Amino acid sequence: MSAFNTETVTQVHHWTDRLFSFTVTRDPAFRFVAGQFTMIGLEVEGKKLLRAYSMASASYDDHLEFFSIKVPDGPLTSRLQHVKPGDPVLVGRKPTGTLLADNMHPGERLYLLGTGTGLAPFMSIIREPDIYERFRQVVLIHGCRHVSDLAYEEYITKILPADEFIGAQVSKQLLYYPTVTREPFRHNGRITQILETGNFGPGIDLPPLGPKDDRVMLCGSPAFLDDMTTLLEVRGFTEGSSSRPGEYVIEKAFVEK
Ligand code: A2P
Repeated sequence: MSAFNTETVTQVHHWTDRLFSFTVTRDPAFRFVAGQFTMIGLEVEGKKLLRAYSMASASYDDHLEFFSIKVPDGPLTSRLQHVKPGDPVLVGRKPTGTLLADNMHPGERLYLLGTGTGLAPFMSIIREPDIYERFRQVVLIHGCRHVSDLAYEEYITKILPADEFIGAQVSKQLLYYPTVTREPFRHNGRITQILETGNFGPGIDLPPLGPKDDRVMLCGSPAFLDDMTTLLEVRGFTEGSSSRPGEYVIEKAFVEK
């Protein structure tokens, strides 16, 4: 049996000239836990062009959604950005990944920290009822260069709180904090700077980040992951894995190309 399912594109949304998302059909046998990724791609001249993509859709959706950058000379994304409804996309049958609550000790508050398309796995996690059972509060911080890069903002702030399945938990327990670094916005600064100072701005009161109560999931650029790891380790957080739970987890498969 092939390691890939051939799925069909059902919708494409272009957020900016650098960002797009798309949905594909889902094989009913394809199961994943929110936070996981799989290899997806295209067959080009008989060869598979693949890269790791986190599922941005909920584990219970009947479709799969992916959120991607467009790199003009990127082997895969230069092509993938042109997909249209009806086109085939290869989806690896074996999802995997480390952004799982099971890889961490129980805690009070879950921080989901993502830069750019690093938001993708968190779009799945914030729709998971179980996450709101495990944590009293979920803080989603999305860091981008520009306001227009804040994909899904309207979905998170308007549609999700009204969702009949997950809306009540989202409204009560999710704090969404978008921040932008290269133009004025209601929140400015890198995620690392905001967490370092603890200054979230007026009306947002969060205790200093600490390993006793806080758990952290990271997904983003390698430089962001490096700086966040240092910030967390200095505060006594340890990295968790399936063999040894800790206080934070990182998605290392995320590579921009
Ligand atoms: P900045 O504009 O100051 O570089 P990118 O598109 O380059 O992946 O960046 C996405 C967001 O991540 C930007 O807001 C960028 O801020 C921020 N960023 C880049 N490097 C780091 C880092 N080492 N730590 C924290 N945030 C970072």
